[in-house]
Amino acid sequence: MTTKSGTAKRAATTGAAPIPIVALDFPSAEAALSMVETLGGSCRFYKVGSELFTAAGPQIVEALSAIGNDVFLDLKLHDIPNTVRAAARSAAALGVRLLTVHASGGRAMIEAAIEGAGDRCGVLGVTVLTSLDAASLRKAWGRNTLDLSRETLRLAGDCAAAGAHGVVCSGLEAKKIRAEYGPELRLLIPGIRAAGGKRDDQRRTVTPAEAAKAGATYMVLGRMVTQASDPRGALESAMMVALGA
Ligand code: C5P
Repeated sequence: MTTKSGTAKRAATTGAAPIPIVALDFPSAEAALSMVETLGGSCRFYKVGSELFTAAGPQIVEALSAIGNDVFLDLKLHDIPNTVRAAARSAAALGVRLLTVHASGGRAMIEAAIEGAGDRCGVLGVTVLTSLDAASLRKAWGRNTLDLSRETLRLAGDCAAAGAHGVVCSGLEAKKIRAEYGPELRLLIPGIRAAGGKRDDQRRTVTPAEAAKAGATYMVLGRMVTQASDPRGALESAMMVALGA
């Protein structure tokens, strides 16, 4: 899967800086497109998540693509294989370049997503949400002895075996996943924060430099950029730091 804004393959195999994706977590198309205008040419890949997609519909994907951007549709699908296959097919038909499913939906579901998405849309499996730490994961899954890092690796293994484009993981597990599954399994890292920055609801955060060092193919920048007083400046300095890593 080659993107318009850069080649994921190159970033995955040469240790190049991660491709930045800005998360348009806004309640309307107007607010999202205004952020795109503010960022100008400094970003060409945008994440549309459940808030924006529910409010603005598929038209927001078309609007972003029409002005030359790649779109990552982060709906984190988790359903029976037949439903996920059909949803992935619809997303690919919209021109979406990357799509997420929960890796815990199982191998058959991940494979169905890949089949539905076809060649032009990459499927990423979400391993363990970056908002969970070891204690909250154990509580959520009802297992007292759960090892977060091992679970992440196991779920990444399911994605690799299914032939997924990549996985979503925190920067804390990225190195291990890269070492185990190699460069063909792309890594998308969210939960990016400036050193000492506010974590909000995120728990497993890393800085842009740490994400780059850990081998991120893609780096999702959310509130750190979109809530900054100078979003374009915040994005550019995050990328400078990542490039220097
Ligand atoms: O604002 P912040 O940087 O926390 O935003 C992170 C973005 O990445 C959000 O849009 C969130 O939905 C997404 N995300 C995440 N953790 C995952 C997958 C996606 O934070 N495991």
